[in-house]
Amino acid sequence: MKAKVAVLISGAGTNMAALLYAAKAADCPYELVLVASNVPGAAGLAIAKAEGIATWAHSHKGLDRDAFDALVDEQLRAAGAEFVALAGYMRILSDDFVARWAGRMLNIHPSLLPRYKGLNTHAQAIGAGDSHGGCSVHVVTPALDDGPVLAQTPVAIAPGDDAESLARRVQFAEHQLYPATLAAFVMRERSPDWLRDRVRELAMALPEADEVTSHGMPCFGIAKGKKFAYFTEDHHGDGKIALLVKISGADEQAALIEMDAERYYRPAYFGDGWVGIRLDLGDTDWDAIGEWLRKSWLAVAPKKLAGLMGVAEEF
Ligand code: GAR
Repeated sequence: MKAKVAVLISGAGTNMAALLYAAKAADCPYELVLVASNVPGAAGLAIAKAEGIATWAHSHKGLDRDAFDALVDEQLRAAGAEFVALAGYMRILSDDFVARWAGRMLNIHPSLLPRYKGLNTHAQAIGAGDSHGGCSVHVVTPALDDGPVLAQTPVAIAPGDDAESLARRVQFAEHQLYPATLAAFVMRERSPDWLRDRVRELAMALPEADEVTSHGMPCFGIAKGKKFAYFTEDHHGDGKIALLVKISGADEQAALIEMDAERYYRPAYFGDGWVGIRLDLGDTDWDAIGEWLRKSWLAVAPKKLAGLMGVAEEF
């Protein structure tokens, strides 16, 4: 399944168009589900409409930042967006909105960050005598143009360049950089390596946890004690990437599978005391995975150690 991306624009929308046309390739891992704007007349909206992409526009005028961002958030969720791409969206975002999309929202900025945050980036690069301007794609965090940079393209400043001529060339670079970086970003969370590292980080944070390989799978247990989690990747060719954790027994196993048969399954060869939780569906709730690991750890931890966890929780 392709990752669902919403794009926020305020203007021409050429970066949105680059994302949209790249998404037409059969092997592109994302699709656009919504193009939204705070400027009802934004030219990019017409491009998206003509291509049959859902659009939404509402002026921010007269609304405070929180109220407007709540409206946008509502639209993103209604469209089923899993990721947000800011593409010339000229609005400062509320902290709430950024928090809601933490780790799932990217922005493209016309400079080689951390240089020249904010506006007039090209004039600043030329004025400073830089050899290159360029563009950056970064993860959005509360501070403006500040989150971790995922990729950059330097663009040489030619003799005689002014802000406009440089901006035009940087846009070519932006249109190459953004689709490729977004594609890699949405894929990352589905890659076995990324998923394994994430599980490892959560499992190894539990008291006295250690890792061994068992039946070819990374397996987490209490040092010199019982196992509480397995990471499985295409085990016996089942095509699944999943976490196996301890549960109370057949009843709980059946209830989970009935509740969400796509996500939960009965792991072959493990019996009723375990459940498989798919990690490759693209919408994994990692807080819930952390909680599953903790419960599984508690189920196998010797009383003394489990008591320690209880004590730790009181602090
Ligand atoms: C792009 O150059 C983008 O980098 C910039 O606005 C332009 C939008 O063009 N973004 C920022 O300055 C964000 N701080 P577009 O509407 O044609 O994509």
